[in-house]
Amino acid sequence: MAPAPSPSSCPAPTRILVVGSGGRENSLGWALARCPGVEAVWIAPGNGGTAEIPGCSQLEIAESDHGGLLAACRDHAVELVVVGPEAPLAAGLADRLREAGFPVFGPGADGAQLEASKQWAKALMLEVGIPTAGYWSASSREEALAVLEAAGRPLVVKADGLAAGKGVTVAESLEEARAAIEEIFAGRFGEGGGARLVLEERTHGPEVSVFALCDGQRLVLLPSAQDHKRIGEGDTGPNTGGMGAYAPAPLLDGGGLQQVKRLVLEPTVAALRARGIDYRGVIYAGLMLTEHGPSVIEFNCRFGDPECETLMPLLGPELAQILLACANGQLDQAPPLTIHPGCSACVIAAAAGYPGEIRSGDVVSSELESSNSLQLFHAGTRLSGDGSCQTSGGRVLAVVAQAESFDAAFEQAYAGLAQVHFEGMTYRRDIGHQVRSR
Ligand code: AMP
Ligand code: GLY
Repeated sequence: MAPAPSPSSCPAPTRILVVGSGGRENSLGWALARCPGVEAVWIAPGNGGTAEIPGCSQLEIAESDHGGLLAACRDHAVELVVVGPEAPLAAGLADRLREAGFPVFGPGADGAQLEASKQWAKALMLEVGIPTAGYWSASSREEALAVLEAAGRPLVVKADGLAAGKGVTVAESLEEARAAIEEIFAGRFGEGGGARLVLEERTHGPEVSVFALCDGQRLVLLPSAQDHKRIGEGDTGPNTGGMGAYAPAPLLDGGGLQQVKRLVLEPTVAALRARGIDYRGVIYAGLMLTEHGPSVIEFNCRFGDPECETLMPLLGPELAQILLACANGQLDQAPPLTIHPGCSACVIAAAAGYPGEIRSGDVVSSELESSNSLQLFHAGTRLSGDGSCQTSGGRVLAVVAQAESFDAAFEQAYAGLAQVHFEGMTYRRDIGHQVRSR
């Protein structure tokens, strides 16, 4: 019998490339650069704050420029690539880099279908009995309208492809559901979204995000997190990418998280393997905690944003080793991941107009002093020709703080936010209302 591998036989990567340009990627770069053994982290294309992160530098290569990213891996002798966003994963970036011999944390295009096709993900869930709302899929306007009329109630309407979080309508009336169907078949969500849709039963309950790091076979669970998707205080108004988050979510801790692993994550990995998919990356399950137990709302093939910014400060120094072990299919050889006790709170500062038409080009200034328990991650920012940092996206900055209680963590995060400025800055004052007493 072969000897059991020693828990530390998995090395830390010294040079890492992180692909993406958001707050998520800056927080990944920040967390990885702090791991022992890591000498350099490049973030491509990064943003206006990337070069300020200790140990990180920016490479101006678009996430869609697969050839350019491959050349950067070669030029810098990169030992691990971490792909942040879903679009390059769905477009096969991880496959291309892996074929060239680079370990990648992020699934190939086959596994990325978990997020890129809602219909594919629903079929997978149904096949292995993962709890999720009942659904119908339709590939024509007429078919979709017929399903709706037969149901006789307002179903949730979802464009099938990647729609940057904007392809879902939780209809309150049949009329609203009909309008959502018309909009999808009018091509508003591009080719991916226009061709097919999923109609789903509406479920009720609080939403929680669960993240697992997967090496194709084994899983490492991270603390659960709660995002605030709506733009307005009191969880009102249109959906956004996420206006703030907190972790761990008290609604889903210890036992509840283990139940999700058993009911959702392990069957998902088994179903992926049965399809011949060696999934090495994050499995992000967006769950609704219904009165009948957890129900999967969606799967994503990447970290959530801003959940990632919220979680990274809670993770221990083994992170780089563990992501490399996932990329190599060797989680059994990695040390356990330390999770720091305590509460993490994240508040997003957005540009005026977000999530609609935004203003950009405003100068970002900050007097915030980062510390062990307070971080500022840039998202929609860029360096302009004169060296100033300017707004360039809807979600501009993420301020994250950790403390022993959520009250203290949010107090610190909001105090940090008061030290950053740009014209038109907006933010929700009630992030974490579920876990705050003041
Ligand atoms: P998704 O892009 O699938 O995460 O959907 C965006 C949001 O729509 C979710 O975060 C939920 O708030 C809501 N949603 C999606 N599916 C359902 C459902 N079956 N029932 C109720 N709300 C849903
Ligand atoms: N914060 C939700 C997401 O990243 O999809």
